[in-house]
Amino acid sequence: MIKIRGFSKRYGQFVAVDSLDLDIEQGDVFGFIGPNGAGKTTTIRFLTTLLKPTAGKAWINGYSVTQQIDEVKRSIGFMPDTFGVYDGMKVWEFLDFFATAYGLPRSKRRALIDDVLDLVDLTSKRDTLVNGLSRGMQQRLCLAKTLVHDPPVLILDEPASGLDPRARVEMKALLRELQKMGKTILISSHILPELADFCNKIGIIERGKLLAAGPVKDVIRSIRQNRVVRVVVSAQMETCEVMLAHHEHVKNLSGADGEFKFEFIGNDNDVVNLHKDLLEKGVPVVWFQEEEADLEEAFMKITKGLVA
Ligand SMILES: Nc1ncnc2c1ncn2[C@@H]1O[C@H](COP(=O)(O)OP(=O)(O)OP(=O)(O)O)[C@@H](O)[C@H]1O
Ligand SMILES: [Mg+2]
Repeated sequence: MIKIRGFSKRYGQFVAVDSLDLDIEQGDVFGFIGPNGAGKTTTIRFLTTLLKPTAGKAWINGYSVTQQIDEVKRSIGFMPDTFGVYDGMKVWEFLDFFATAYGLPRSKRRALIDDVLDLVDLTSKRDTLVNGLSRGMQQRLCLAKTLVHDPPVLILDEPASGLDPRARVEMKALLRELQKMGKTILISSHILPELADFCNKIGIIERGKLLAAGPVKDVIRSIRQNRVVRVVVSAQMETCEVMLAHHEHVKNLSGADGEFKFEFIGNDNDVVNLHKDLLEKGVPVVWFQEEEADLEEAFMKITKGLVA
């Protein structure tokens, strides 16, 4: 659905993005993660036909972003990282303006605007002036704007920036809804945990280079070589500790009071066997689980590796 090959952008000597390749499939929710100045907005501007590349090609919905600009624009809903100034415009007028720009006939616009307002929960603000909306509402309105021409692809540059925790939760729920509607979504952020439970794929970019990309679990696995397992037992703590301490796959065992944590070097089968061994030795296991690695940790490790 989105394909980038060899995208580079230079400003004079400065390389903002360096030979970036990326593949996003239909229905993916792709988190584009990177610190300030990494090259996210630059890549997004290229994809949305707003920036001429120094080198490289990209396709959205099968259309070339450098050659089929109209088709690309019709295929995407774009939410930029800044909300413009729309003095004196009411909420419905704002949406009507964009719907008109997309060539939607007047007869259809009214119902469509009502639909998108309902989706982003702004029906009651229909006649409010855009600049009188709160930041969270403006972000939702901006998202509504990206939907008026019903594009298959949404490209959102930091849609949650500047929102309070409640507005973030609401934004996330809204994005989930759009995902369910079958949209392919590219969303950029430097707020990592926010994307972890929401995206199926992520890409980590720093200083113009894509450092890792793929399914969330794979990216995390590729950074964290060993899985971390947590075991909680209600009795036989010593037996458990001895077994773990002498187990060939267990490393860096820590813990007390029947709660153990360790790195496990082995495959799924080895994990299953360890669990079984504990039970067979009569250790009452309350919990036996792999610790979820969080994106924050993954991100810090990857970007640190580059700096070092
Ligand atoms: N027009 C320009 N002229 C010169 N340098 C630019 C220009 N636009 C962007 N850059 C530089 O390119 C780099 C990448 O910027 P970009 O806006 O893509 O980063 P970003 O990942 O979106 O960061 P942020 O999280 O702060 O939004 C930055 O170092 C920026 O200063
Ligand atoms: Mg940016």
